Amino acid sequence: MTKRYDIVALGELNIDLILNDIQGFPEIGKEIIADHCTMTLGSSTAIFAANASSLGTKVAFLGLVGTDDFGDFIERSLRERGVDTGLLLRTSEHNSGITVCMSYAQDRANVTFPGSMNFLGYEQVKDLDFSCAKHVHISSVFLQEQLKRDIVPILKHIRQGGATISMDTQWDPAEKWDLPWDEVLPLLDVFMPNAQELEALTGEADLEKAIATVAGKVKTLVVKNGSKGSIMVSGGSRRAVPALLNPEPVDCIGAGDSFNAGFVAAFVKGCPLPDCQDNGNLTGAISTTAAGGTGAFSSPEAIEAAAKRFRK
Ligand SMILES: Nc1ncnc2c1ncn2[C@@H]1O[C@H](COP(=O)(O)OP(=O)(O)OP(=O)(O)O)[C@@H](O)[C@H]1O
Ligand SMILES: [Mg+2]
Repeated sequence: MTKRYDIVALGELNIDLILNDIQGFPEIGKEIIADHCTMTLGSSTAIFAANASSLGTKVAFLGLVGTDDFGDFIERSLRERGVDTGLLLRTSEHNSGITVCMSYAQDRANVTFPGSMNFLGYEQVKDLDFSCAKHVHISSVFLQEQLKRDIVPILKHIRQGGATISMDTQWDPAEKWDLPWDEVLPLLDVFMPNAQELEALTGEADLEKAIATVAGKVKTLVVKNGSKGSIMVSGGSRRAVPALLNPEPVDCIGAGDSFNAGFVAAFVKGCPLPDCQDNGNLTGAISTTAAGGTGAFSSPEAIEAAAKRFRK
């Protein structure tokens, strides 16, 4: 049966307001000037959705934003990236989330207002029949309070619709890593944290021990490990693939989300798991060739040109 969507991306949405070339550091009671300011679509799940769409899959976003101007901006930005907004939820009860990012040469100082991001839960998704999608990808669960609380009923509800599920936790800012893992992991098809996240959530400082703790509990575990590549464990077999190393990355923003996009785009086509992993490694590497999380995925031609650099 043809599904309406290949992928539903379920997760957080926010605005990034980035201030550059700031003349000094902020101080209470004073005012300083930034010479550049950009407003862009933020959020790791949005990078995933945009890049999966650029890779040719039909992606819809299931997220919650305000009925405010920021919500309008987010909706428009998703559409511009080819992401279907038919499942996007709007609320007048909460304002859309925003991160104000003060960017300095050495690092960034961020202030985030999560807003509506904290209010997407089971109540909001229970009436959606997930048989509309082949696959659901969930990300940044620790940035979304209600999603975290309701994760088990949400996963069960998605499974009832017959969709497969992947999850990338991203980092837990509270560093509690408090999900009911024994219930969550068996409900996933693909669990895709990065190495630091897997170590933190298992409490194992050694990556191999962390992998061993989780691998038997989930169908497929994919661990992203930056410039070292990725490790996949599925059905008892382990496959480590070195990165298609970019020795001079422009930046590594969104490399993990781009990896997820490549992996899942192949997965929904029914490709064998090793091919999904190889495609993830390739799209992770492609992501490092341009600024930001979506810069390298602006068109099929741009993706192909970047991919050529990494093909043997
Ligand atoms: N310098 C690099 N050259 C080539 N590929 C890279 C490089 N850095 C990362 N990658 C690829 O991108 C993938 C994901 O990177 P990483 O492990 O940093 O994810 P992450 O920490 O989840 O990132 P994110 O910040 O997007 O959440 C890696 O598994 C690898 O395949
Ligand atoms: Mg990540």
